[in-house]
This record gives sequence, structure tokens and C-alpha cells, in this order.
Amino acid sequence: MKEKVLALLKQSEGYLSGEEMSRTLGVSRSAVWKVIQQLEKQGYEIESKTRLGYRLAASPDILFTSEFREFLNTRIIGKKIQHVQNTPSTNDLAKQYAAAGGEEGYVVLSENQTRGRGRGGGSWLSSISRGVYLSVVLRPPGPLCRAVELSLLVSCAVRDTLEEAVSLPFETGWPGDLFCQGKKVCGILIESAGELEKLDYCVAGIGINVNFNQEDFAQEKIESATSLKLLTSQWYDRKQLVPLLLNRLDSYYEAYLNGDFSAAEEYQKHCATLGRQVKVGAKTGRCTGISPKGELLACLEDGTQCSCWPGEATV
Ligand code: BTN
Repeated sequence: MKEKVLALLKQSEGYLSGEEMSRTLGVSRSAVWKVIQQLEKQGYEIESKTRLGYRLAASPDILFTSEFREFLNTRIIGKKIQHVQNTPSTNDLAKQYAAAGGEEGYVVLSENQTRGRGRGGGSWLSSISRGVYLSVVLRPPGPLCRAVELSLLVSCAVRDTLEEAVSLPFETGWPGDLFCQGKKVCGILIESAGELEKLDYCVAGIGINVNFNQEDFAQEKIESATSLKLLTSQWYDRKQLVPLLLNRLDSYYEAYLNGDFSAAEEYQKHCATLGRQVKVGAKTGRCTGISPKGELLACLEDGTQCSCWPGEATV
């Protein structure tokens, strides 16, 4: 009912009377009034005038699914979306859901994370409502190592989304980072479960620094991280970014399931890690490429060539 009342208010150019809403929705006027109160509690600014009715003056900067569902154009991803205000980590919520047998495409979105996780045991800073923190459950058929391919695929989807929204060039970083002007804007954490030969599920966690200000970053990140807002001095509507991202991810993922993994080439074309110095155990070398399986290819100082899975090399 909340979504319906909201939709009516959004469609209406001016004031809409409670009576008209109750007639359209087939409920009592007091039911409409109760919903209006609930919406106000959630942060919607609704003006009311005697005899004229209600007018939506402003919507809160919160990723309620009702705010963007109409822009979703997906076949697999986002049929079910759970939006929460706060959670330790969206990846943890998505993993619980997947481990209990939940279907692929499930998305968890949070306004805040109290223990956002990064790769390699690191943490992820989640400034409240200033970023996108979301996790998607995927179940591609095949061996466990396919999870690494998903890193490339998700990176490409985020890169396309950011380029479309921001009109600046973004680079991918192995295995799952997005950079702009040399600074990190997004991190991707893929976690998977299953047997070596049979992947059960993957959770793709995506964190994007959208409207972070300089002071939102921890001191040690100020040099290396940035946000869309800092890059362009503009505020971005996360309610537009999220459907863009889920739509992109869905089309890359559907193509991937149908055997089209052109994302691997896309990834490599825009990869900032190529040519960079890398560390493989105690040895150093240079990155010479990213394999279609998602491995980092390196030429070490002693001339040996090697390929590394995430965690085996540091960039
Ligand atoms: C990294 O760069 O180290 C990866 C960071 C991944 C952060 C995202 S935010 C949503 C999801 N939930 C988490 O706890 N982590 C990922």
C-alpha cells in the first residue's frame, strides 16, 4: 500500500486529495492517512492542505526499493531486494540467505555497515547513506574458480555504470577495484562456497564511494581513495545509480551464463594493473596481463612467468 500511495503522489503534478487516493486504491481515507504518516516517519516530506489534499515535496536520500524498482530492467538480478538501514556487512546477510538455499539474483542493500569487509581481511568504510553498499547472490554452474571470473564481470558492470553516470574514465584494478584519476572509488569482494568442482554460491559485494566528503575518509585513505562527489563536485542520486548498476550487472551476467565472457576483454582493456609492479610471495615482478579466468599474469624479476589467483599476489 505504501508503494501505491507513493506512486500516486509522484505521478500527481500538484495536490492530490485523500478522497481521490482512497477511491483509486479502493481503501478508506483513514487508511490513506495512516500510510501518509508512515511515509513522513520514513523521511518523505508531504505537504497537506485542507480541501486540496497532499503533495510530495521531497523524498529522503534512502535507497527504499520502491524508489527505483520501476527503473529495473533485469531478468535474474534484483527480483528480490532486501533494504536495511544498518547491518554489520551486506555480504554476511547475503551469505546467510544463499547458505539457506536462497535463489540467485537476491540483492541486499544497506545504508550503513558497522563491519564492512574488504579483501584480504581488510575493512570497508561505510559512511551512512553516502555510499552504495550492496551484495548479490549468484550461482553460476561450474567449478569454484568461476568466482574469480565474476570479479572481472562485476568490475565491468560497475565501470560501465560509473562512466555512464559520471562521464569520466574509470579503470579496473585486479582483482576487483575501480579507480578514477589514480584513486580508488569502488571495491569488490567476491566470496564463494562449494566444492572445488562445483560452486554452490557466490556473493558479490560492491562498495562505491558516492557522496563521501574528504573528512569521511580515514586519514590513511585520503591519498588513495576518492568519491564521485569529490571527483566532480557534484552530488549523485544513489537511487539512480543502483538500478543502472543492477541492470548492467544483469546483462553481463546473463551473457556470461550463455557463454559470452567478453567482460574479460573489457576488463583487460581498461586495467590499471597492467605493467604495474606486483609482489608474488617474496618475489617482485610486473603484471603482463589478466587471464580470461581472472588470474594475474606476471613476469618476475628472475624471468619466470607465473599466473596467480587473488590472494597469491599483491598489487
Ligand atoms: C576491497 O576493496 O577490499 C573490497 C571492498 C568491498 C566492500 C563491499 S561493501 C558491500 C559488501 N559488504 C562488505 O562487507 N563488503 C562489500
